Amino acid sequence: MNAQARIHMVDAPTHPSLSSPILEVRDVHKVFGGVRALNGLSLSIAEGEVHCVLGPNGAGKSTFFKILMGTERPTTGKILYKGRDVTDLPAFKRARLGLSVKFQNIRVFADLTVFQNLFIPLRRHYSARQIPERVAVLLAQVSLDGSEHRLARELSHGQQQWLAIAMSMAFDPEILLLDEPTAGMSVEETDKTAAIIRQLNAQKTTIIVIEHDMGFIRDLCARTSVLHYGKLFAQGSFDEIAADADVRRIYLGTL
Ligand SMILES: Nc1ncnc2c1ncn2[C@@H]1O[C@H](COP(=O)(O)OP(=O)(O)O)[C@@H](O)[C@H]1O
Ligand SMILES: [Mg+2]
Repeated sequence: MNAQARIHMVDAPTHPSLSSPILEVRDVHKVFGGVRALNGLSLSIAEGEVHCVLGPNGAGKSTFFKILMGTERPTTGKILYKGRDVTDLPAFKRARLGLSVKFQNIRVFADLTVFQNLFIPLRRHYSARQIPERVAVLLAQVSLDGSEHRLARELSHGQQQWLAIAMSMAFDPEILLLDEPTAGMSVEETDKTAAIIRQLNAQKTTIIVIEHDMGFIRDLCARTSVLHYGKLFAQGSFDEIAADADVRRIYLGTL
């Protein structure tokens, strides 16, 4: 069977908000030099959902986020946000529309305090008087209450990831993209990260999360898309994806 032609749209047609998705990628190709990072990717995200993205290394997951955020432009194809074509919109304008991302590599300033790390993104939208209260709200959202004056480098790896999540929540985005948020985390930190994501989602943020950790994805209980060779390979509930023999085969490298 042609692996790349195999797509299950298991529960997509019945998802409540997919008739008008908040975010839609239509037949996106992205070529870097000779490398096809995305090869006809089409995918829709419903407003208010947590959506997990899985796939072997090199499947195009991080490139998918870069073209959603606008830090990379597709070679061909379209990106729609609330029905509006944003394909040519630069990243800072997409941020203003409500998109935010925490990329794969952590970006906290190790020698600054937690407060100072958050101050940097917040100062563009909030007055100096408003910032302490906003910092407190963000830290509570990521289980770092009361850590304002700690240096970022004194935080555990997991706590630094949560600080990076708080920084990407600074403008209260409608959609948050998280690229491998639990990489390198302990089991406890991973569990707590799932709780943080559920909590942010309960407060109305649509969240797309790229992950490898199967226990974590099971915990989130989210609709899951599998990318393979730069396109959608399978989609369904976590249980459907976990039970899929072909999905297992792409991880073993036999498809
Ligand atoms: N800036 C780039 N220049 C050249 N090749 C790239 C670049 N970014 C990604 N790629 C290639 O595109 C493919 C997909 O990469 P990526 O999206 O990072 O995959 P994933 O996140 O699923 O591991 C890989 O083969 C990678 O080497
Ligand atoms: Mg990646």
